[in-house]
Amino acid sequence: MPAETAPPMTAPLLDVQDLCVSFPSRGRMIPIVEHVSFTLGERDILGLVGESGSGKSVTAMALMGLIDSPGVQITGSALFRGQELVGMPQKQLRRLRGREIAMIFQDPMTAFTPVYTIGWQIDEQIRAHERLSRKQARARTVELLAEMGVPDPARTADRYPHQLSGGLRQRAMIAMALSCNPSLLIADEPTTALDVTVQAQILDLIRSLRSTYGSSVLLITHDMGVVAETCDTTLVLYSGRVAEAGPTEALFAHPGHPYTAALLASIPPLDGPRPHRLPAIAGAPPSPLERPAGCAFAPRCTYVHDTCLPAPPPPLVPTGYDPLAAPQDDATAQVSAAAPSTQPVQFAACVLPAEGTPLPPRLTYSELSAGDEADATGFPPSSFAAGEPH
Ligand SMILES: Nc1ncnc2c1ncn2[C@@H]1O[C@H](COP(=O)(O)OP(=O)(O)OP(=O)(O)O)[C@@H](O)[C@H]1O
Ligand code: SF4
Ligand SMILES: [Mg+2]
Repeated sequence: MPAETAPPMTAPLLDVQDLCVSFPSRGRMIPIVEHVSFTLGERDILGLVGESGSGKSVTAMALMGLIDSPGVQITGSALFRGQELVGMPQKQLRRLRGREIAMIFQDPMTAFTPVYTIGWQIDEQIRAHERLSRKQARARTVELLAEMGVPDPARTADRYPHQLSGGLRQRAMIAMALSCNPSLLIADEPTTALDVTVQAQILDLIRSLRSTYGSSVLLITHDMGVVAETCDTTLVLYSGRVAEAGPTEALFAHPGHPYTAALLASIPPLDGPRPHRLPAIAGAPPSPLERPAGCAFAPRCTYVHDTCLPAPPPPLVPTGYDPLAAPQDDATAQVSAAAPSTQPVQFAACVLPAEGTPLPPRLTYSELSAGDEADATGFPPSSFAAGEPH
């Protein structure tokens, strides 16, 4: 878990409420992101986690105003320092992007133009926002590259993107994103393409951004291990909807949603013998075109019961959700549209069969190794003996 903790602030830096994104297809609107709400505090790191296709990038691109597909419909609210991003004119958004909100992408090659040197591109980014001479901009570029741990930064600045290793390109991209001191950095899978050692270095760098630059980070990943090491708060997306959200420590200690529990069970153990196989969640998320009427996780969930099927669980209503509040051990709360709680720090949008029935305890890896037959969630059948819902 991250060692540093953010100082408490009153207003969040980013306050997203009921964000929905739909694309037109075959004559109808297909919801891709539905009722997503979260807040991100100053100098906070929030992890947006979920399987491929769960809508992580679409959420980020919608916040950045970067979705230009014809007919796209974006509703809800995203207040950045009190300014509404949803529906903000592009001219205004362009001013915010780069200066106050920056984004780094999984593949740095998409951010850099191959025909110019890394240094030239960072210089230009700096000069687009600040009145600096070329020489001054280059000095700032070299300084930034050095801060990002790039060896021999002056020479590296004169290299073309293809001449750098993946790790160096990623550092250069973070340098470019930070060149204008953004308050919010959105990092979309920044380490997925990198080997484990470089991945750890980049995550260290991201963690240090809040102390050195005062930045908040929205970190998008499909890797719960990355979230555990890096994020103060975590939001689990499943098929475009929030499955669970809360302080990382509480959520990892007491997952309230069967999907979160299954994701956690698939993290390799840090110590002890490695199990001969890690549990996977059987099946795949539904295509947005074929989402079931009820809970989208139902086809893969051992807990599924009658009330899960006719309609999705109530939308998450995190009114009063304070990601900066101190984690509480027994903080897991079921969210109810009828009676949203104002105090809890963790939310699970899941209607477990009997209210208050806790999920079974997390399995030890020896138990996992012992059971060869996984059930619908990827757990051995014995793991669901307690509180069997069917
Ligand atoms: N412009 C678009 N038009 C229509 N559908 C889209 C568009 N962009 C994304 N989608 C769909 O939205 C869904 C979510 O995509 P998104 O890229 O946000 O997933 P993701 O969670 O970032 O996945 P990954 O981990 O693979 O990056 C996918 O089913 C994708 O096909
Ligand atoms: S118990 Fe029902 S609502 Fe909860 S995850 Fe399973 S199918 Fe969805
Ligand atoms: Mg993505």
